[in-house]
Amino acid sequence: MTGDHYFTAEPATAAHPREVGFSVAGRDYALASSGGVFSATRLDPGTAVLLRKAELPSADATGPLLDLGCGFGPITCVLASSAPSATVWAVDVNERARELTAANAARVGAADRVRVSAPDDVPADVTFAEIWSNPPIRIGKDELHQLLLRWLPRLAPDGAAWLVVARHLGGDSLHGWLVEQGWQVERHASQKGYRVLRVTR
Ligand SMILES: C[S@@+](CC[C@H](N)C(=O)[O-])C[C@H]1O[C@@H](n2cnc3c(N)ncnc32)[C@H](O)[C@@H]1O
Repeated sequence: MTGDHYFTAEPATAAHPREVGFSVAGRDYALASSGGVFSATRLDPGTAVLLRKAELPSADATGPLLDLGCGFGPITCVLASSAPSATVWAVDVNERARELTAANAARVGAADRVRVSAPDDVPADVTFAEIWSNPPIRIGKDELHQLLLRWLPRLAPDGAAWLVVARHLGGDSLHGWLVEQGWQVERHASQKGYRVLRVTR
């Protein structure tokens, strides 16, 4: 028993290597996962809704794209596979999540285009064509707001962020808060209790 959360920087939970399989847009993925990271045993249902309902980058997209809170890297791997020329930044506070994402980027043949980083290691001059996130709601509302206030301004002028949030975990109030902050927010889809939000300037 440990006090680990999935957003712990250095999880003490035993690694227990696992594999998570899923399909998105006709491609099959078999990714490495382990204890101590978010949704270690299956593709999170919210992430599944996001990847099914949001508009994946086109094959000619170059990015840069950001997966904010990459976990073991399912969003990163789908983005890198959908846009085979794009650079994808995969950011997480959890060191084990970063290691897994790097390994999974190699599994999908994108190790040379996926930049796995701790938040403070992303160069300040990088702006993102798209930001994708199943954000860490459980860090608390104030922390979540700080996280979004940190990263959304790094969208390129014509960029878009795709977020998925469970309605019962505050998806609609997050929508309202983003609007109050001056962002354009579209409820792009709603499925299985999850909201998929498209956020632009
Ligand atoms: C809901 S999980 C989503 C993980 C993964 N994208 C997925 O869909 O399975 C959110 C992730 O955000 C990470 N996280 C928490 N606080 C963060 C922060 N301040 N900056 C970056 N990532 C953070 C957590 O460690 C966790 O991996």
